[in-house]
Amino acid sequence: MKYNFDEVINRRNTYSMKWDGGEFLKEFGLTERYDEDTIPLFTADMDLPVPQPMIDALHKTVDHRIFGYSIFPNEYFEAIQHWFKKRHDWDIKKEEIVFSPGTVHAVNVAVRALTKPGEGIIIQRPVYPPFTSGVEGNGRVVRNNALKYDEEGYYTIDFDDFEAKAKEETTTMFILCNPHNPTGRIFKEDELKRLSDICAANGVVIVADEIHGDLIRQDQTFTPIVKVAGTTDHIVTCTAINKTFNVAGLHCTNVIITNPELRKKYSQAMGMNLPSPFMVSALIAAYHEGEEWLDQLKEYIDGTMEWVVNFLAENMPKVKVRIPEGTYVMWMDFSGYGISPEEVHDRIYNKANVVLEDGKMFGQEGLPFQRICIPSPRPIIKEAFERIAKEFEDLN
Ligand SMILES: Cc1ncc(COP(=O)(O)O)c(C=O)c1O
Repeated sequence: MKYNFDEVINRRNTYSMKWDGGEFLKEFGLTERYDEDTIPLFTADMDLPVPQPMIDALHKTVDHRIFGYSIFPNEYFEAIQHWFKKRHDWDIKKEEIVFSPGTVHAVNVAVRALTKPGEGIIIQRPVYPPFTSGVEGNGRVVRNNALKYDEEGYYTIDFDDFEAKAKEETTTMFILCNPHNPTGRIFKEDELKRLSDICAANGVVIVADEIHGDLIRQDQTFTPIVKVAGTTDHIVTCTAINKTFNVAGLHCTNVIITNPELRKKYSQAMGMNLPSPFMVSALIAAYHEGEEWLDQLKEYIDGTMEWVVNFLAENMPKVKVRIPEGTYVMWMDFSGYGISPEEVHDRIYNKANVVLEDGKMFGQEGLPFQRICIPSPRPIIKEAFERIAKEFEDLN
């Protein structure tokens, strides 16, 4: 491997939310304890360096010494088109691309631009918490099509419930998370087609958050929903270098909308957003030269996940977990211990001094779970699990 992902890079004192955000996290109610020994593995960013071509491109931008108003050059759009054609066999037209300074922002704008206050929006809990706040915070109503969880720890869609919710007169939008955070499901082509058909038949706009689409296991495939939908007039897709290339701090999401009317409404609500020169140069480098890094990263993450599953089987056999099809999060079911979610929390956050994310943040369906983000150097992951396992020894 060219990249050494085992290297531990100190992120403290770099304005990192994960490593410097203790006070914020306490205020937010995520944890009570946060000190210099805390291992934070809650938020979905990577403790790993980005591809070298991106670093070189960013250096070049810094060395220029002037950082004024910038534009989206043709190379920006060409880079996006190149990546999605090559990696996902998806032909995107330049005019279909709308920039957003982040995916959560893009989802919020879609809610405000394409639905009305009081209308219903389908989400599939347990799901990424900003979907709920994006709906409720904008005065819309959550219609929860909860995913079904089976004996094997596998999640599937309750299509009857989905269709009933889509048919409700006031339902106008569905926010799809695929690959699904936190369950790790990658919805298959037949599932996506069925979701799309139901939405199209009932006048429901789909906002497809596909930003984990590049971060899947090596033996899995991911299909953008537009590829199987037939008509794409009702689909708004969020893509981002933020997740794939670990540059959440550069705020670069690209929303793809084929329907000109929908795109006009959406773009008007988004307003004028000029890019930063850092973001533009990073995206062009990432989408043209980041492939080798991504392939090595996927191999590394797969290896770490395998280590986690083996470690848990040996040391914490009551935790139910499976290797997710996509995303770099693992969703661990602690119900086998027979203790309350509060006690699980206390043992992990206060005693082991590891910060994960309590399952309840993803909806009531997530209550007995803990979510961990895996893309850190393995020495960090190993220490975190060793600390946690020690706190559960008496219950094995
Ligand atoms: C499904 C999903 N959407 C959106 C985001 C946040 O994206 P952004 O930083 O571009 O707002 C995350 C981050 O974890 C995520 O998992």
